[in-house]
Amino acid sequence: MKFKLIIASGLFLSIFSGNLLAQDVEAGRLLYGVCSACHGPNGEGLQALNGPRIAGQQAWYTERQLQNFKSGARGSDPRDVYGQQMAPMAQTLTTDKAIKDVAAYIESLGG
Ligand code: HEC
Repeated sequence: MKFKLIIASGLFLSIFSGNLLAQDVEAGRLLYGVCSACHGPNGEGLQALNGPRIAGQQAWYTERQLQNFKSGARGSDPRDVYGQQMAPMAQTLTTDKAIKDVAAYIESLGG
C-alpha cells in the first residue's frame, strides 16, 4: 500500500514538473520578444546587428552567459564592443527565473 503511494506520488511529481517546464518555455517565449530584434525571431542570428545565432543552445550555457552579462563579467570592458551591446539587454531579465525561462525557450528554438 505504502509502496503504491510512493509510485503514485512519483508519477504525480513527474507529470507536474513536466507541466512546469512547459510553462517556463512559454514564459520564456514572451521574454524573448526583445531579444528577437538582434538574434532573429527564431534565434537564427542577425549579423547586421552583431547578434549571434543562439537557437538550440544548451540552456545551462545560455544561463551562464546571461548571468555573466548581468554581473558585468562579460560586456563591461569598452574594448568589448559587441558585449556592450548585449549587456543592457541581460538587465531586462530581472530575476533568475526569467533567465531560466528565456534560456529554456532559446534551447527549444530550431533557428
Ligand atoms: C541590441 C541587440 C541585442 C539584443 C536586443 C539582444 N542581444 Fe544578445 N547579443 C547581442 C550581441 C551583439 C551579442 C554578441 C556579444 C559578443 O560578441 O560577445 C549577443 C550575445 C548574446 C548571448 C551570448 C551567446 C554566446 O554564445 O556566448 C546570449 C546568450 C544572448 N545574446 C542572449 C540574448 C537574450 C536572451 C536577449 C533578450 C533578453 C538578447 N540577447 C538581446 C546583441 C543583442
